[in-house]
Amino acid sequence: MDSLWADTKTFFPLFLQMLRREPAIRSVVVVGAADGKFVMPLVDCGYEVVAIDVNRSALYGGTAPAGSTKEAYPADGSLAHLLEQRGAKGQVELLNLDVRSIEMFPRDALWTSCSWHYSMNHDQPFDTLMRALTSCVRDGGLLGAEYFMPCSASQVASDFFPDVGEVWSWLRGFSKEWEAYTPPFVEAPHLGQPEPHVHRMGFFVARKNPA
Ligand SMILES: C[S@@+](CC[C@H](N)C(=O)[O-])C[C@H]1O[C@@H](n2cnc3c(N)ncnc32)[C@H](O)[C@@H]1O
Repeated sequence: MDSLWADTKTFFPLFLQMLRREPAIRSVVVVGAADGKFVMPLVDCGYEVVAIDVNRSALYGGTAPAGSTKEAYPADGSLAHLLEQRGAKGQVELLNLDVRSIEMFPRDALWTSCSWHYSMNHDQPFDTLMRALTSCVRDGGLLGAEYFMPCSASQVASDFFPDVGEVWSWLRGFSKEWEAYTPPFVEAPHLGQPEPHVHRMGFFVARKNPA
């Protein structure tokens, strides 16, 4: 079964190319792993993956608790099920938690795609989330992210929608390897967004400086 996010635009193939040029990178954290759109290609390339998602349904399938705004995934479309089918369970550690509460041994690289826009993250400063993400990467490792840029006045005022260049002020202790920005584009309908809609997207890859 294809990921329910299969049709959304992504810079991930570029990030994967960068990882593959660095033999020292063996382990990758995916924050907002959902049903594996990014986890599966990493598995296929032989990486050890830590797949994090706060939504239990994404990892294991089933309905979300009553009153929850989290997306529901079918059991046979969950990440755990897809990994089992692929015979890749041993290659991926599933962590059902809010990344802001994480304490883990830093890995070689981290990828996240449009995860920090979820409204649940906006109850604490953007800096809290960025500190959590950066703590998951070892010295010399890579952090790659794509994110939405502001398309409305409220988004312009929000730290969670950084505009051109703004993201770097949150990435203390990292050096710029790559960045790219799109103009507004029409995104295909996806889980939680049944209509086509407009986004601007930013993408960066940063390397953690030695302490
Ligand atoms: C845009 S979605 C889907 C994944 C991805 N864009 C894709 O194409 O597969 C982002 C995911 O991030 C997760 N997420 C958001 N905030 C999180 C947090 N603080 N900790 C862990 N997961 C989080 C959500 O539950 C959601 O599954």
